[in-house]
This record gives sequence, structure tokens and C-alpha cells, in this order.
Amino acid sequence: MAKPVAIEVHNPNGKYRVVSTKPMPGTRWINLLVDQGCRVEICHLKKTILSVEDIIDLIGNKCDGVIGQLTEDWGETLFSALSKAGGKAFSNMAVGYNNVDVEAANKYGIAVGNTPGVLTETTAELAASLSLAAARRIVEADGFMRAGLYEGWLPHLFVGNLLKGQTVGVIGAGRIGSAYARMMVEGFKMNLIYFDLYQSTRLEKFVTAYGQFLKANGEQPVTWKRASSMEEVLREADLISLHPVLDKTTYHLVNKERLAMMKKEAILVNCSRGPVIDEVALVNHLRENPMFRVGLDVFEEEPFMKPGLADMKNAIVVPHIASASKWTREGMATLAALNVLGRVKGYPIWSDPNRVDPFLNENASPPNASPSIVNSKALGLPVSKL
Ligand code: GLV
Repeated sequence: MAKPVAIEVHNPNGKYRVVSTKPMPGTRWINLLVDQGCRVEICHLKKTILSVEDIIDLIGNKCDGVIGQLTEDWGETLFSALSKAGGKAFSNMAVGYNNVDVEAANKYGIAVGNTPGVLTETTAELAASLSLAAARRIVEADGFMRAGLYEGWLPHLFVGNLLKGQTVGVIGAGRIGSAYARMMVEGFKMNLIYFDLYQSTRLEKFVTAYGQFLKANGEQPVTWKRASSMEEVLREADLISLHPVLDKTTYHLVNKERLAMMKKEAILVNCSRGPVIDEVALVNHLRENPMFRVGLDVFEEEPFMKPGLADMKNAIVVPHIASASKWTREGMATLAALNVLGRVKGYPIWSDPNRVDPFLNENASPPNASPSIVNSKALGLPVSKL
């Protein structure tokens, strides 16, 4: 017998059927879909990660578009089911889409959306939080207080690392990596070393100008360097934050050998995707190097952690919350809904997914376009002139 699935329905007589596999923050995304003639169905199944079978049930016989989550396996089976149901669009409520087989979507002519531009600062702020928490041993110290172990001030109690004047290393200086680099350089007067296949001229200019400002004020100027290899960053930086996309080339980018290149007291932060780090090698490294610290938002096999990680005092672990600010999550829901709506209505694709502000203004109607469709070129979809 089929499981009873709680579905919240908005605008039951809407012409287009759009399904969201999860309730999402805010109500604007629902209103935008309803206002343009969609029947919106939101799945409330009490199960954190929906299986392919669960989603096939949700798609049913007629479905114009689906908004889904990064925990779901969007491959051949689901795109085939969506295509059979007449679907034209799927959007992840995430900027990353390593859970989506874009080739399979292309095969069925289904547009794949993501949500860039709205989570840059929020994610960079979490990377910065993990950096500070690891440098100053905040979580360990908090546990110590709560355990009633504090007996009075001591010269050696929870001594950590000063960031000012040290070097921050950024691997992957795209939107989020650059925002993080700026926060650490400007906020903590760190020098920057970064590795990226593309030169980040804006970031370099920013650090140069800030360095000049500091110098003019009689302070030590900050500096920047574009490394010629990732290894150079690992060897030289005191604090390293990982911001690459996950693909075949970045799987286990940080492995046993590369961990061994890092300074013994370095800090490593990962808010990108878990498999970028070989987590078993990381646990061994943390065990053998108690002064090495790590701040992790993502894990190799979410929702699990590799054995031993949870016991390591030099690891701070949080459950994939980098984009979890209210403004960002509501914005992500809006962009995901508009990606699907745009395809369902036959609107063109927004020309610059880095410039999505017009879609996020709550006091105006959004442009008639899909904000970010990653396979728009492959599908030959028209680009908006706006
Ligand atoms: C979150 O991890 C995202 O990719 O948006």
C-alpha cells in the first residue's frame, strides 16, 4: 500500500503543477508561483532525505516542474519520470548541483536551475565564523565552561592563534572564496595567498588598495599572492579555506599527502562539499597533530561523519548550514521557484546569474525570466535582453 504523504496544496485550480519536495522558508516563492497560475504542491513527508521512489510518487502523471534539494539524486530515473509527466524544469534550492546529472537532464530537454548570487556573503560568513571559532578554540572553551571545569583565569587556558598578520589561503577564488578572502583580509588584516585557475583581478585590486590605506595610516600593509599551485597555498598559509566546486578533479583534493604539507598549527575550513577532503585521512591527521584545527560544514558521506571525527577536540563540526541565514534561504527559495516558473511559462534566461538582485526585491515584481539555468546553452534557450 502506498504511504500516505502529506501534501500542502496552494491554488488547486492552477494551470501548471509545480511540486516542491520540501517546505521552503518564506511565502514569497509560493505567492509568485500562484500569481502566475501555478498549482503548488509542497511535500511534508517526515523523512529528511527523499528517495528516488518518493520523488517519482510526487511527480505523478502530470507535473510541469519540480523544486528539489541537494540531498536528492537527480539522475536519469527522475528526469525520465519528469519528462514523461510533461515537465520542463527542475531547480535545486542550492548553488551547488553535484547531485544533478545535467547530461541526463539535457537528454530529456529539462532545464536545471540553481541559486547563485544570494548565498555568497552568508556562506563566506560561516567560513569566517568557523575560522575564528577554530583559531580561538571557542567550541572547546564553551564545553569546558558548561562542564563546570572553569576554576579561574590561567595563563595557558585555551591559548589559540592570532590571525592578524598571518596568511589566509583560499583555494577556489570564485564568488564565495573571494567574499571570504575579503572578510579575512579586511576584518583581520591577514595577508592573502590564493589558488584558482582564473585570476581574480577584483580581489587583487581590493587587497592592494586596502594595503595602501593601511600603509597611509602607519600600519603594516596587507599583501596578496596568486599561487601557481594549490600545494603552494597549503605550505604557506596559516588558515586555509576550501571553495572549489566538487567534480572529478576536486574529489579528495585534500588527501594524506597534502595534509602533511600544511603547517602543524594550520587551520583548515571547508564549506564547499565534503568529498573535497579525504575525511579518513583528515581524522588521522587531526589525531597525530593536536595543534592542527579544522572547521567543517560539510562531510564526505552526509549525514554521517567518518569514525573518530566526532571525538576530535581539534575539529569543529556543523551540519551543512553555510547558507542558513533567513534572508538567504528565503532568497534561494525565490530563485528556485522563479527558475521553474520561467521555463514553465516560456520566459527567457536571465543574462547574468551573478546579478540576481531584481528577483529578490520584495517590493517589485521580478523580471519575467529564469534567474539561473545551468544548462541553458546546451538546451539552446533564449537569453533575456533585460
Ligand atoms: C549549499 O551547499 C549550496 O550549494 O547551496
